[in-house]
Amino acid sequence: MNYTLITGACGGLGGAFVRLLAERGEPLFLTGREESRLQKLADTLLSELPELQIEYFPCDLADERSRGRFFAYADSVKARFSRLIYVAGADVQKGFEKYTEEKLVMQTRVNFEGAVSFTRAVMGRSDLNGTTEFLAVGSVSGLYPMPYFALYSATKKALWQFYAALRVELKGRAKVTCVLPGAIPTRQDVRKYIKKQGLWGKLAALPPEKVAEKSLKAVQKNRRSVVVGFWNKMMRISTAPIPLSLKMKFIAKKWQKTEKDAF
Ligand SMILES: NC(=O)c1ccc[n+]([C@@H]2O[C@H](COP(=O)([O-])OP(=O)(O)OC[C@H]3O[C@@H](n4cnc5c(N)ncnc54)[C@H](OP(=O)(O)O)[C@@H]3O)[C@@H](O)[C@H]2O)c1
Repeated sequence: MNYTLITGACGGLGGAFVRLLAERGEPLFLTGREESRLQKLADTLLSELPELQIEYFPCDLADERSRGRFFAYADSVKARFSRLIYVAGADVQKGFEKYTEEKLVMQTRVNFEGAVSFTRAVMGRSDLNGTTEFLAVGSVSGLYPMPYFALYSATKKALWQFYAALRVELKGRAKVTCVLPGAIPTRQDVRKYIKKQGLWGKLAALPPEKVAEKSLKAVQKNRRSVVVGFWNKMMRISTAPIPLSLKMKFIAKKWQKTEKDAF
């Protein structure tokens, strides 16, 4: 059986991908850290869509042994993959001096190492016949270095660059896309933050369902990367001529009062 593998399946954006593809009847292989949440999600989907082919297995993406157990299970059920959607990410946000070693290791691994590792593992379990799709969720925060959001921004940039290079290596064998969304009202703390942004928040934030839909379209078209949403695209174009030093000054001022740590 050829599955779409979705990481972060129990999260806000991951959940939107799950729902969209489940309604299309696509076989799904879901992962997140907690088995009970995965089971609940699978049960809900199956109660509405009893024909759905669904597998799940928990995985801590920051832990290589856990990743190993995940693919050992996938192999034991003879799973193959036609699509990877790497949604999982940790948007810990604070001044770098406030980080603990544990938090920086976790964020770097989930946002980058886990994505690279899952991509390799899925490549080895795919036909790579030109239709296989690799979709990674980056962020507009990876467009520029972001003081006070420095690690998140760097990991998302790394993911974006890795996927851009891999796309060339897999030309003709797979579609490889990294999408860069702006704000998405998912968790409570993110929704609160968007509200605080006033008009800009209202204009630029896109619901997770829209982001999922646009992201799937982008990978189907085999786009290298896509900034998701009209206002986020405008922001990128209009800020391009501004010197980086000025942009970073503005970003530092904007972010230094914000702290986020839901992980
Ligand atoms: N919300 C935004 O404004 C926004 C904007 C741009 C980009 N993004 C990106 O979009 C993605 C989804 O974000 P979201 O807003 O949907 O946030 P979310 O609801 O908090 O989802 C994050 C997901 O990452 C998973 N995850 C975190 N650490 C993990 C670990 N160690 N092992 C396995 N899974 C782990 C979580 O899985 P569990 O089920 O185990 O908790 C959760 O499902 C992230 O990559 C984020 O960076 C979000």
